[in-house]
Amino acid sequence: MASQLVTDSGAWQELQGHASEMGGQQLRDLFDQDPDRFDLFSIQLDGVLFDYSKQRIKPETIDKLVALANQQDLPEKIRQLLRGEPLNSTEERAALHTALRSHSDESVEVGGHNVVDDVHAVRSQMGDFVERVRGGQWRGFTGRKITDVVNIGVGGSDLGPKMVCRALRSQADEVIDIHFISSIDGAHAADILPRLDPETTLFVVSSKTFTTADTMSNAAAARVWMTLAAGDVKVIPRHFVAATADSAEAEAWGLPAENIFPFWEWVGGRYSMWSSIGLPIALYLGMEAFEELLEGAWLADRHFESEPLERNIPVLMGLIGVWNSNFLGMAGHVVLPYAAHLNHLSSYLEQLEMESLGKSVTLDGARVNYDTGPIVWGGVGSNAQHAFYQLLHQGTRSAPMDFILPIDPAGADADQYQLTIANCLAQSRAFMVGQEGEDPYHRHEGNRPSTTFLLDALTPRNLGTLVALYEHKVFVQSVIWEINPFDQFGVELGKRVADQVHQELLNHDSPPERYDSSTNGLLNRIQRRTL
Ligand code: F6P
Repeated sequence: MASQLVTDSGAWQELQGHASEMGGQQLRDLFDQDPDRFDLFSIQLDGVLFDYSKQRIKPETIDKLVALANQQDLPEKIRQLLRGEPLNSTEERAALHTALRSHSDESVEVGGHNVVDDVHAVRSQMGDFVERVRGGQWRGFTGRKITDVVNIGVGGSDLGPKMVCRALRSQADEVIDIHFISSIDGAHAADILPRLDPETTLFVVSSKTFTTADTMSNAAAARVWMTLAAGDVKVIPRHFVAATADSAEAEAWGLPAENIFPFWEWVGGRYSMWSSIGLPIALYLGMEAFEELLEGAWLADRHFESEPLERNIPVLMGLIGVWNSNFLGMAGHVVLPYAAHLNHLSSYLEQLEMESLGKSVTLDGARVNYDTGPIVWGGVGSNAQHAFYQLLHQGTRSAPMDFILPIDPAGADADQYQLTIANCLAQSRAFMVGQEGEDPYHRHEGNRPSTTFLLDALTPRNLGTLVALYEHKVFVQSVIWEINPFDQFGVELGKRVADQVHQELLNHDSPPERYDSSTNGLLNRIQRRTL
């Protein structure tokens, strides 16, 4: 018998019926009908306000979505996640990023062992190191203080630290400057290294596996650069540390155990910035800021754990995403921070959401017959207004949007900052109400749903809360769609083929005709170094 899919369930079909009624519903009418709609559909968590009133929903929509969540056993799944049960079933392990922000008196057991103790041991190892580097006790090979930290990593070992360091740059002091090298083409390294002084530069090689080609090729280049400058390979331990879940690989690469900041298999790459992968954050902003980030995420975890589903922000984020995509037929999801320093947030969330939810086979191995993870993209909202908003306003396909707006200007000119606030509010309203008129070219249909996250300020704590809310949203959607959000087998095929092609490039003057005619043709031209 074919396995039952969620689309066959009563709760799903209820929602389908409801969607045919809500599909034609205008958001502006919903606001006219209920002047308290904002109060009804907004929730505050610490310094973050979640306003979902501009979504095409009614109270009964939420009731029906919550019924779907209950049918999918979401409350129990949340408990299992937080308890460290092996929900990453294809890789037979837990997904315990929440344990990374735990308080030291809490306990989360994996195989009878309290991992919170390990987490705090590494946190204090990080704290000591950060103090020594920032305090000038850890010095380079000529005895000078470290002034520049370079993170070498890719994917989850790059995007999180980079996003946070850029987001909070206005709070950074002058002690350490931070740089990120990720691209496999060596271009980042070629841009950044000549501007740095090897005597005062510290590299953090960040890689869960410590085998990723992108990272290891850049780390090798940096090691050569440092060795040539110092004239001695023995200086490497003064200038390189590692954040990794494979300490043996890092030792084999040449690092002593005390230079290795470990984390664990049960931390997924895209969920890892709370682990030692966050070391560059702590080096750049100080350990206190990193701990504030963790605390903000911890608050989101407690909220996720304890709030009833209908008042639970990440649950609502996830369910509304399902509603927009599977029931209202909207494609994609756009992340629009109105804060220039959040310019890396959308790339971060692209990995978090798309690597987690880009799956089409259920936990039972059945092919889904419904859409799963949306295509996520975004950019700084005020800049995107001059780029891709046209499509969102008047294109045949729009996409649900998340606006993210800090109230505090974070050091920017307060008067000028009013422009950002005005633009953010204006856009979410314009998308919602649209514009009528005779002239079809100037008409805006409106009825484009959005959510606004209002932050009292762009602080480490609020950023931690916000990111953890998105993490939990992803989990909620995976439970509804019955997929595993913690594996990423989809990235492996490309890596394998790249290895083969790389061998061709290294070993053969003219490549064998073993691929399709396009790949062979391109390889031939490349080998000839001319078109
Ligand atoms: O290729 C995808 C991926 O495996 C991501 O999941 C991960 O964040 C990234 O590569 C980097 O992996 P690592 O930290 O092991 O170098």
